[in-house]
Amino acid sequence: MGIKNRITLTFTLIITLILLLLCSAVYIFSYRDRVDHFRQRLDGKASNTAILINTKDFSDDMLSMVNESVISSLMRKSIRVYQQTDDKYYPIFTYDDDGATPLNLQNGMLKLLAKKKKFFFEDGSRTGIAIEKKIGQKNHIVLVSAYDEKSELWLSQLRTILIIFFFSSIAVSLGIVYMFATRITASISNISDEVYHISSANLSQRLYIGEGKDELGKLASNVNKLLDKLQASFDTQRRFISNASHELATPLTSIISQMDVALQKERTNEEYRKVINSVKDDMRRLALLLKSLLEIAKASGSPGGIELSTVRIDELLMSLPADIKRISQLYDVRLDFDDFADDDTAFCVYGNPALLYSALRNIVHNACKFSRTKIAYVYLGFTDTHITVSVQDDGPGIAPEDYDLIFQPFFRGYKQDNLIYGTGLGLALTHRIVSLHKGQIVVDTEVGKGSTFRVVLPRDENKA
Ligand SMILES: Nc1ncnc2c1ncn2[C@@H]1O[C@H](COP(=O)(O)OP(=O)(O)O)[C@@H](O)[C@H]1O
Ligand SMILES: [Mg+2]
Repeated sequence: MGIKNRITLTFTLIITLILLLLCSAVYIFSYRDRVDHFRQRLDGKASNTAILINTKDFSDDMLSMVNESVISSLMRKSIRVYQQTDDKYYPIFTYDDDGATPLNLQNGMLKLLAKKKKFFFEDGSRTGIAIEKKIGQKNHIVLVSAYDEKSELWLSQLRTILIIFFFSSIAVSLGIVYMFATRITASISNISDEVYHISSANLSQRLYIGEGKDELGKLASNVNKLLDKLQASFDTQRRFISNASHELATPLTSIISQMDVALQKERTNEEYRKVINSVKDDMRRLALLLKSLLEIAKASGSPGGIELSTVRIDELLMSLPADIKRISQLYDVRLDFDDFADDDTAFCVYGNPALLYSALRNIVHNACKFSRTKIAYVYLGFTDTHITVSVQDDGPGIAPEDYDLIFQPFFRGYKQDNLIYGTGLGLALTHRIVSLHKGQIVVDTEVGKGSTFRVVLPRDENKA
């Protein structure tokens, strides 16, 4: 069942229940009130009859006359008065309206009267009262019965009114709720249709927000925000792929053209050696590029897919100098650790050692290759909650317009490509790894003087 029908049905059911309770309450209270009222009148009639019988010049005819002449609301009434003589009751007054059902004293009534002096009884659609009373020296029983035709008519009219009110109210509320539900679900259907028609081909399309104040407006606006993020990530990915293909194609084209040129005619051994060496350089560049791309792919997953353990950053840094020396004998890494006295857990981070090493190595390698002296100064410090690795160099610094770009894949700011070799992927990878470890990279730099890259990582909580 659709939401529209469910809303309509639920609300109508609730309204029906409320109406049913209301109508029943009105009818029951009215009915009780009419019954009480009628019984009071019967009681009054019986008491009056008893008083009149007690008067000195009471006569049958006089009492009958009173009953006939007074326009009473008791319809088709029947009145009996019995007098007790020696355990027996003899009728002393009898009166019946036209159309009345004659009333007679029965044994059952006597038994009940012995228990209580007054009671009401129902006989078909007529109601009656029986009273035992001492009039003069003798016991008397007064019986009065009548038909409450007015109440019956009144109650039947009330029933008709309530039934009409009940069904028309349900019809009206059904209509209103249906209209309301249609309006709500139409907005939801619109959003669903619009979302259905958005694909990767028209990701720039956005949902119509309308006034945007209600929940549906918020939903549309949130879907739009999600589309913004998706579009941005699609664009990044597209840029990444086109950059990656370009970077991969460049050395390959260079290899092919060098070989073409070499094959055009017979060449000396020396010339072949030169070509092979140059091709080897291009191949090395290709291999490095592919390795970096692979590492980026690995670091791009969620932390859930990566093996984590407690990593001692000081130990990682310790193996850097020899590793960097292997790239070039000119490079030098100088380590300086904060005094950590007897706390050997101060430099622990919860993360992946291989990824963290790769991130720090990239920064240190950059410092060595971009600085004039080829020396990277690495300083390791800690606070109660974090560990900081600072890598300082006296290189060319980074121009302000490049600040935001250096962490993007394939960006290379330092325009001496031939002198300083690189892929432009190192900092992109480092940034991804540090984010994965919930850390931050802060860069302090001055053009012409040098740069300091600061990696701040949260300390391993279990070891802190
Ligand atoms: N220590 C540094 N000093 C000056 N510029 C730097 C430094 N580190 C990075 N950069 C700039 O950021 C760019 C991107 O760095 P990176 O992603 O490591 O690529 P690559 O090292 O392959 O050039 C570099 O090309 C360079 O312009
Ligand atoms: Mg680099």
